[in-house]
Amino acid sequence: MANDDSQFSDFYREVGDETFAKIVAGFYRRVKTDDILGPMYPQDDWDGAEDRLRMFLEQYWGGPHTYNEVRGHPRLRMRHFPFHVDRAARDRWLQLMHASLDELEPGELSDAHRDAMWKHMVQVADMLINQPG
Ligand code: HEM
Repeated sequence: MANDDSQFSDFYREVGDETFAKIVAGFYRRVKTDDILGPMYPQDDWDGAEDRLRMFLEQYWGGPHTYNEVRGHPRLRMRHFPFHVDRAARDRWLQLMHASLDELEPGELSDAHRDAMWKHMVQVADMLINQPG
């Protein structure tokens, strides 16, 4: 059935794929011009980077497993080793993501869903720091 999404979690279905896409799009729109994060990302593959983060978040929250099909196991710490992730980069990543979440329509994302997503993002961001300072 084309619209059978019953294999996905309640969480994923309640947030909805459009909102996942908006969160990630709003984040990358800010990353592109950011002095710390902008230069780290592949300048010729912004759409690809946006897809990767969106697929990862959708999969983590119980949506389609497209990330794993396309990229394999996330292994995020390993995949971030090539980048200089210090506290300033971690703070900025979270700041830009916060701004993107704030931009959603009122009520588009429930407080409970937002809190859960935010907590996960903070945990991952903390785990990804690979440089002192
Ligand atoms: C702590 C600060 C962070 C920095 C500086 C950072 C930086 C980067 C960079 C430069 C890339 C490469 C872009 C690409 O080609 O896809 C990337 C990829 C990625 N990041 Fe981060 N990131 C951070 C935090 C996070 C967090 C908190 C998450 C998840 C909640 C995350 C999830 C991902 C994913 C899923 C990819 C794509 C991995 C792949 O399949 O290659 N990152 N990140």
